[in-house]
Parts: sequence; C-alpha cells; structure tokens
Amino acid sequence: MALLSIKNENVIYKVKNKNIHAVNNVSFDIEPQDSLGIVGESGSGKSTLALSMLRLLPKKIAEVSGEVIFEDKNLLTISEDELRDIRWKEISVVFQKSMNSLSPIHKIGSQMSDIYMLHNKTASKAEVKNKMTELLELVNLPPRVYTMYQHELSGGMMQRVSIALSLMHNPKLIIMDEATTALDVITQGQILNEIKELEKRLSIARIMITHDMSVVANTCKKIAVMYAGYLVEFGYVKDVISDPKHPYTRGLLKSFPTLKGERGVLRGISGSLPDLSVQHEGCIFESRCPERSGVCNKEKPGTVILENGRMVMCHSAGRR
Ligand SMILES: Nc1ncnc2c1ncn2[C@@H]1O[C@H](COP(=O)(O)OP(=O)(O)OP(=O)(O)O)[C@@H](O)[C@H]1O
Ligand SMILES: [Mg+2]
Repeated sequence: MALLSIKNENVIYKVKNKNIHAVNNVSFDIEPQDSLGIVGESGSGKSTLALSMLRLLPKKIAEVSGEVIFEDKNLLTISEDELRDIRWKEISVVFQKSMNSLSPIHKIGSQMSDIYMLHNKTASKAEVKNKMTELLELVNLPPRVYTMYQHELSGGMMQRVSIALSLMHNPKLIIMDEATTALDVITQGQILNEIKELEKRLSIARIMITHDMSVVANTCKKIAVMYAGYLVEFGYVKDVISDPKHPYTRGLLKSFPTLKGERGVLRGISGSLPDLSVQHEGCIFESRCPERSGVCNKEKPGTVILENGRMVMCHSAGRR
C-alpha cells in the first residue's frame, strides 16, 4: 500500500476577482522509503502542492480539493488535532527558511527541547537532553550547538538543525522545499549524502522540491515534473532521465550541463509560464512546445500511463 496517495488534487488561489489555478488535477503515489524529486520552473506549483497537502495554506486564500491519503486518512478532511499530530510525528517539513521560525534570543538546545516536549509531555529532563544530543549527532553537529544561539551558526549548521528538528519524532515522510538551495555546493552535497544515509537507516520517505535536476538525479529514486500546476511527467529517475517522454522534461534536462548538453535557459523552450488565471482549452504547454501538432491547442491531453509507473501528460506520449 502506498504511504501517501494524492488523488486529483487542485488548488485555486482566490486573489481579488481572479482564480489562480496553481495545482491542477495532480495524482501520484509515494511508497514507504521512496524518494521523490519535484522539479519545474519557478511558479509551477511545487510549493503550493506541498503546502496544500498538509493544509498549510490559509483557507481564506486557497481552495483545495481532491484527496491526500496518508495511511488510510485523508489529510484534507481529518480534524485539526489529528492533522497536527500527523504533521509533527509522521510527516515533517523543512523549508529553505525553516530556521527563521526559531527565536534568536534562546539557545538552540532549549528551543529544540521545548518543541520536543510539546509532543512528549511526560519526558524527563535527562531524557530530553539525551534525545537532543542524539539528534545533533545524527546530523553531524557537535554537542556544543546545544548551547549556541542561532546567529552563531553557519548556514549549513542551521540547515542541519532544521533537519534535526524534522527528524525529532521519527517521521515516515519528510518534505524538503528547497531546503539546501542556499548552501554552497560542497555543504549541500555533504548534507544530501547525510540525508540519504539517514533515510536508509531510519526508513524514511522523502519528497524533495528543487530547481536542481542534478540533485534529483543524485538523491532521488523517482521524479515528478510540474508545469503550470500540472504534473506533466512522473516516473523512476533513471527512466525519465534516459528517455524523457514530455517535451518540457526534455527542455529541463537540456538546461543542465551535467546531465545533457550545455547549461543555459530552457533551451528550445522560449517564452514563460502561461497566465494561471486563464482557462486553456488545449494543452497548457502548447504555446511553448517545440513539438506541438494540430490537436494540441484544441484538446487537453490526458495522462498516459506507461510501464514501470510512468505517467506522461502529452498527446504524443504513447507514440514516442
Ligand atoms: N499566496 C498566494 N496567493 C496567490 N497566488 C499565489 C500564492 N502563492 C503562490 N501563488 C501563485 O501560485 C503559482 C505557484 O506558485 P508556487 O509558489 O507553488 O510555485 P513554485 O513552483 O514553488 O515556485 P518556486 O520554484 O519559485 O518556489 C504561482 O503562479 C504563484 O504566483
Ligand atoms: Mg516554491
């Protein structure tokens, strides 16, 4: 059984008199211990998808529909209390700016302990201290970080603290949204390697949102490519990279030199994301697609299911 199953999820932002369709009919499954990279250019709906899954978008501005099933429970309909419990203990989230939510005037250790005790009210002081030391060790931080303040930590150390926090309750799934993007390449590489190790050791699944296709190639088993709120391609990284079926995926891959061709803007894909407040009759990618044909501006492509769990939303998918 899938650990997380997203079924026909839609998110509409209500802005003034406009409806912005930021996530459209997205469906996919994540198995226990899977690692899924979500890629797509800026504004394609990656963060919206992650935030909406955990009901982290204010109801006033975002209308979310569909189902997000985590271990038999629909996260979009369970009670606030149930959700809060799952959000801390079963699924945790690390953002690029996660550390901003910590206080600059309290020591890292005491803040970590407070957070831990919110969900483990009966833990003794010694127990908590032990757990925190263990957590710091897990993410390769020295014990002295416990008594340090936020401003005394480097960017890499801060992200390690965020990751330690996210591992606090042994989650089954961790969601990282550009969590290592701001770090230098070496630190990012180290942290990503550590995460991979931890996942194996602690049996954690991961959803990783990133602009960097090479991060997905190096650290993920599966990939989801988003364009203008649609899931245009999904599958095993090795299958998608060696034989991308969607023209947009091919464009994304070409813009990463370590994978295919020279680095650059989306080569062969000029233009920018369409206006998400306007409903499109045909394929959402049609206006930028180098391979469009007659049917593309008339009919929306369905999602074609291929072998090995591969999904492609393109009229020509089955034919290539
Ligand atoms: N609070 C909001 N109100 C209205 N529109 C929003 C809001 N947040 C995001 N959007 C819009 O929804 C779309 C998807 O945004 P989202 O932040 O999910 O993209 P993203 O793929 O995470 O981009 P990035 O890579 O830049 O983080 C964009 O068109 C964005 O302008
Ligand atoms: Mg984002």
